[in-house]
Amino acid sequence: MSAGIIGIARYTPDRTVTNADLEKVMDTSDEWIRTRTGIEERRLADDDMDTSDMAYYAAEKAIENAGLTAEDLDMILVATVTPDQPFPTVACMLQEKLGARKVAAMDLSAACAGFMYGLITAQQFIETGAYKNVLVVGVEKLSKITDWDDRNTAVLFGDGAGAAVVSSVSEGKGFLSFELGSDGSGGKHLYQDEKIVMNGREVFKFAVRQMGESSVNVIEKAGLKKEDVDFLIPHQANIRIMEAARERLELPVEKMSKTVHKYGNTSAASIPISLVEEIEAGTVKDGDVVVMVGFGGGLTWGAIAMRW
Ligand code: ACO
Repeated sequence: MSAGIIGIARYTPDRTVTNADLEKVMDTSDEWIRTRTGIEERRLADDDMDTSDMAYYAAEKAIENAGLTAEDLDMILVATVTPDQPFPTVACMLQEKLGARKVAAMDLSAACAGFMYGLITAQQFIETGAYKNVLVVGVEKLSKITDWDDRNTAVLFGDGAGAAVVSSVSEGKGFLSFELGSDGSGGKHLYQDEKIVMNGREVFKFAVRQMGESSVNVIEKAGLKKEDVDFLIPHQANIRIMEAARERLELPVEKMSKTVHKYGNTSAASIPISLVEEIEAGTVKDGDVVVMVGFGGGLTWGAIAMRW
């Protein structure tokens, strides 16, 4: 049995904060942010919208797109580092908000690689036949842990959610291979101490290397070649990091998803948000081989090759 995504949706808050808006409140410039990161604006959730609300909006649509109802879910997994509170989990809140049955629900913490970890966890339950439909959500309200006095990090992040229903799909489709990994020795370069603390240069070096390596590894594990890849969905942290992965795969610019300019880095939400946008734009089509790859605090990483 193969597992894959049968329905996917995103939610991004309405409030747009441009680089020009940030120039007014901190010592930065649109030019610096754009050339160093590719970010032009980001969406930030209002105070009365928490992580579970964004998760709910994305999840509701994903379930509908899958042609299911919440009652069909057998498990709820939420990848986030910004839950409403440490417990109860966002997954449990979602179980209630969605009106799902009293199924297994848990949050999963792997920072920006969280959605990759979530999809692959779901795959195990589907392919063993234990469950039929697993909801996987990547969601962050990073604005609540952003240090707005630290220009090194404040300009990078945004809020948003992406949700997918993972179920069995026809043979040859869905997830073809994956790689998940961690290196705790790099934890000191990116962590939360009330607010986000980051050594940008160290994270950058790690990300450039790992994004490329993991992308190549999942292609090989799937028994494919670089030229078989139709589309790359990299974690949207920084355009220069994304470009490094694209170059390793020898893909043309138009074969890589780029949403970082609109949303900034939304951590666990960035890959599903980008995948939804590419599907809606028709750039990811039925039968395409898609590589998704992410990295994050931990340090963590995760990549998946799938046939859409
Ligand atoms: N506006 C203007 N100047 C700034 C800003 C800003 N917003 N931020 C930093 N600077 C200045 C610094 O003060 C420093 O000045 P100095 O040289 O006089 O001390 C200089 O710009 C920094 O320059 P660099 O270190 O050369 O910047 P770099 O090219 O490394 O880019 C960046 C910094 C964008 C943070 C980069 O290192 C990066 O993207 N790193 C990866 C970050 C990342 O992806 N984090 C997310 C991980 S995923 C997760 O789990 C959340």
